[in-house]
This record gives sequence, structure tokens and C-alpha cells, in this order.
Amino acid sequence: MCGIVAYVGPKDAAPILLEGLQRLEYRGYDSAGVAVVASKALKTRKVKGRVADLAAVMPARFKGTTGIGHTRWATHGVPSDVNAHPHLSSDERIAVVHNGIIENADALRQRLEGEGVKFLSETDTEVLAHLVSRAVEETDSLEDAVRRALKSVVGTYGIAVVDAQRPGEVVVARLGSPIVLGIGEKEMFAASDVAALVRYTRQVVHLEDGELAVLKADGFHTFGGDARETAKEPLTVDWETANYDTGGYEHYLLKEISEQPDTIARTLRGRLDDRFHVAHLGGLNMDARETRSFKRVKIIGCGSAYYSGQIGAQLIEELARIPADAEPASEFRYRSPVVEADTLYVAISQSGETYDTLAAVQELKRKGGRVLGIVNTVGSAIARECDGGVYLHAGPEVSVASTKAFTSTAAAFALLALHLGRVRDLSPADGRRICEGLRALPDQIKEILTQEEHIRSLAHKYAASPGMMFIGRVRGYPVAREGAQKLKEVSYVHAEAYPASELKHGPLALIGPEMPTVAIVPDDEMLDKNLTTLGEIRARSGRILMVGHRETDQADDCIVVPKNQNELDPILLSIPLQLFAYHAAVALGRDVDKPRNLAKSVTVE
Ligand code: AGP
Repeated sequence: MCGIVAYVGPKDAAPILLEGLQRLEYRGYDSAGVAVVASKALKTRKVKGRVADLAAVMPARFKGTTGIGHTRWATHGVPSDVNAHPHLSSDERIAVVHNGIIENADALRQRLEGEGVKFLSETDTEVLAHLVSRAVEETDSLEDAVRRALKSVVGTYGIAVVDAQRPGEVVVARLGSPIVLGIGEKEMFAASDVAALVRYTRQVVHLEDGELAVLKADGFHTFGGDARETAKEPLTVDWETANYDTGGYEHYLLKEISEQPDTIARTLRGRLDDRFHVAHLGGLNMDARETRSFKRVKIIGCGSAYYSGQIGAQLIEELARIPADAEPASEFRYRSPVVEADTLYVAISQSGETYDTLAAVQELKRKGGRVLGIVNTVGSAIARECDGGVYLHAGPEVSVASTKAFTSTAAAFALLALHLGRVRDLSPADGRRICEGLRALPDQIKEILTQEEHIRSLAHKYAASPGMMFIGRVRGYPVAREGAQKLKEVSYVHAEAYPASELKHGPLALIGPEMPTVAIVPDDEMLDKNLTTLGEIRARSGRILMVGHRETDQADDCIVVPKNQNELDPILLSIPLQLFAYHAAVALGRDVDKPRNLAKSVTVE
């Protein structure tokens, strides 16, 4: 997805903008550009390609202490130098970078062309540059000009704007696409993602939808949609630049898989109570009476977040005995859901910016629903929109494929289920059992990671298959779904996930030597049924890779993971599948951290 960086202060802007854009590379993009203000003129460079390509065409002297930069992911118009941002007004006074989509861009373009404006690019963004340029003639404030221009726009945006006539000033605005301000010492930054800021500052301010901010070296002012100044409290982020380095690993994906003993420990830290065997979740903002009042739990999220929600629903039903289910937020938001007062809604998001999930939360709030967030990114839009929630504290996830956020979300659900269970019928003994199981997870994950070489050789063995089937029963089914998702995302090997019980109702027709099966076979009440399914697959000459708690000669290959409590096993069973997908992708020479067609956070509809 597109990225924005802006700077105003005493230093040269260009190196700061380039560094910031590099930090946003992980989000995926096809072109990059910067503009700086110098001596009441704009200097601009933009290229199709990587930030390194942009750096290569930057002249040695590219002075200017106010500037904006962008990485573009093409929506309107092909990836090209011309379509790359920033976009300039015809008189080259105004430069704009934009994330999001201007839905009425065609109508605005026609109107402006009718008035004699010549467009250079095919982008929707260019209309903004011309609109601001027209408005700035009628007012003596850039802030006001941007506000006026945005009034004509239908769609979503995060924008940063500079005016050659106003060096030392950047205006940013947000509607549906994130903008975060970074507060420095006599300098200000803005970006679409905290990742671009952490090298320079930890003090950040998130803009709300409809807000606009004016940045100058000595500070910032924010304004609501009604143009009234808003009061903002800066947040301190604890993410570091080291989180955005591969730290000696070949890829972020492997680094993030390997971090999981630590990230799970961080999700659990300070939240388990050994005296009463309960979980302390201070951010829920609910007393015991309210916590007891819910009759149902509905979980929403997208992609891997949704699959972790399925694990969460299972945990809540088992431990708290409250009916719970998970649904893709991208579907939920469109089907006019019935919102009930006695249902607890839980929204999941690593980035906290996924537009479908945010829109679903907003719909729930409009209808009076009580929504908790399980979110990794502190202060993100979804976290701010929810009534309360649980932060994962897993640190930033850079690789497009989610791994550590997935397992931390499942662990956070175990805490929530324990909390909901212990104010209901879950016994202290069962509470203790779950607390002990959770505490055991980090060491057990370390044990699984020692099997990397074995898993690598299996990934090499199976990577050439035209497709793979992933199956699991009950607790194993979301594990299978996430395993298939990981494999297809990073290796592009076709993978289907099915409940093992459904195999004979259709997909068994696909089974044969060309379609190996990854079977999730935990040592639980479903063991015998799962082993019977393996027999059915073998009878059709299907090859089987089993992931479970003990070897079986029903499978061609086995990955054995340590046993935890039945309810917590899905967390451990997921980890070999992450390593399997990673090594399959490496074996096939894929762009592991930035798979084709995917973005780290999907902030558009
Ligand atoms: C995970 O590997 C995917 N890249 C994707 O499904 C992701 O989980 C989904 O887009 C939701 O993202 P979020 O957690 O940031 O909301």
C-alpha cells in the first residue's frame, strides 16, 4: 500500500524523506517520489521502481528543509514516473502526496479540464493538487486551501501538501487512510505509518478521520472537520528501529517466526494471576457485572486475523461456555448485521488500520454495539474506535505474512476466554490449568523452532506439488486454514483448507499422489477420527504430512510438537506451518517478505 512521509525543521528534508520511505518499503509499492521546498520553489524527483532507484537519481544538491515523500501502489493509472507522487499544480506551486482513493476524480478532472487545467498524469491524486492550487489563490492560508479542496472530494485520503510560497509549513489531513504526526526537537514529521518515524522520535499523535494538521518546525495544530482546533495528547511508542531491521536473518518472515517465544511472553506479561488463576486485562474497561452480562461473542477480522478469531471463538466457547463465532469483517460490514445489546463484539487487527475491519467496527458502534479490540498497533484507528481491548505488544510485524501477531492474538484470546470464564463457571482448577499452559508456551515454541531443519527439508520435498490440502477437526480447523493461507501467500502454491470431517463430502475427489495433505492431528478427543481420515487419504494414494503430538505410520512425514492443554494446542500447531510456508517460498525463489499483489495493511476498500 502507498506510504507518506513529511518533514519540516532545520535539516535537509530529502535524506529524512528517503530514509522514511525505505522504512515503508515493507508495505509494498511500485514507484516513489519526493518534493522539497527551497527558495520559494519546488524541487521534485519521482521514479517508477524502488526507493533506491529514487535515491540514485537525486542530485547531490537537493536542498530544502520542508518536504514530502511517497511510495505509490498503483490504483488509477499504470506504475510510471509520471504517475508517481508527488503531484504538482500547473504553476508548480503546490505539491501533494496522497494515500486512498478519490472516488469522484473523473468528474473533478472533467470539471477542471473544462476550466483549462492540463493534467499530466492518469492519477486521481492530481485533481487534489489543482484544487488546492485554485483554493490557495482565494485564501491566505494553506490550511484553509486544503480544507476547501477536500470539500469537493468524495473518497478516502491521507494527504500531505506543501506550498512553494510557504516554506516551513506542511499540511496533512486524513479520512479513512492513516496519518500520524511525529514530534521532534524543533522539527516535525508526519507519516502514514509509525515505522517511518521511529528513527527520529517516539512521541506521536494520530490524526482522527476528518482531522487536518498544520506542521511547522516549532510544533503543530490540529483541526476537526468543523475547522475548530482539536486538543491532542501525544502517545509514546515503544517500537524501535531494530524492529525494522532483519537482525541477521535472511528475511523478516523468518525473524518474526523466530521471535515468537518472546512475543507470546510479552502478550502474557503481567496478565496472569497465580493466586486466583484469572487474567488481568486492564484495557477492557468493563466491571465483573458487565463482563457476566454478555450472552454471545462475535469476533470479526480479516485474513489471518479472522482465522485467529476462529481459534478465539473456540477458546471462549470451551472456557467461558458463551456461544461465540468469528466472521470475516469484510463480509460482516456489508450484510447489515443485527447488533444485539447482550453480544460482545471483538475486532482483531495487527495493523489496526485494515479498512474493512475499521468500517465493521464503525458500523457496530453506530448501532450501539459494545466492541473490544485485539490490536497490535498502539493508538491505531481500530484501537481508538473500540470501547476497550487488549494490546498484543508483539512489536511491529514487517513481513506481509502475519505470524507473530497471529499467535499473540490467539494467546490474547486465551486470556480473554480465561477472564470471561472465571467470572462465570470456569473452576479455579481449570483456571490454573490454562495459566500453566500459557506460561509453558514460550519454551515449547523454542522447542518447535529447533526443528527448523527438519521442516525445511519437508518444505523442499513438498514445494513442487501443484497444490496442497490442509485439514483439521474442530480446534485443528483454524490451524489448517491459517497454514493454507500462509503457504499460498508466500509460496504461491495452491492450498485449500477443509474441516477433516468434510473431506468425504466433496474434496476427497481431489486426493491423489499429486495433491498431498497437511493434516493437523492433535492428541485430543478427535485423534481416532483424524487417524481414520488419514487412512481414507492413504487408500486414495494421497501423501500425508502430519502435524501433531505423536508420530504415526499412517503419514508419510510427521512434525511432532510439544503437547500443551487441548485448548492451547492450536497456537503451537500453527508454528511448524509458518516455517513450512517460509521454506517452501524460499525453495521456490519467491519474494518472501513482499509477496506479489499483497500489501501489509489493506487500508482501502
Ligand atoms: C496475513 O498473513 C495476511 N497478510 C492478511 O490476511 C492480514 O492478516 C489481514 O489483511 C488483516 O490484517 P490486520 O491484522 O492488519 O488487520
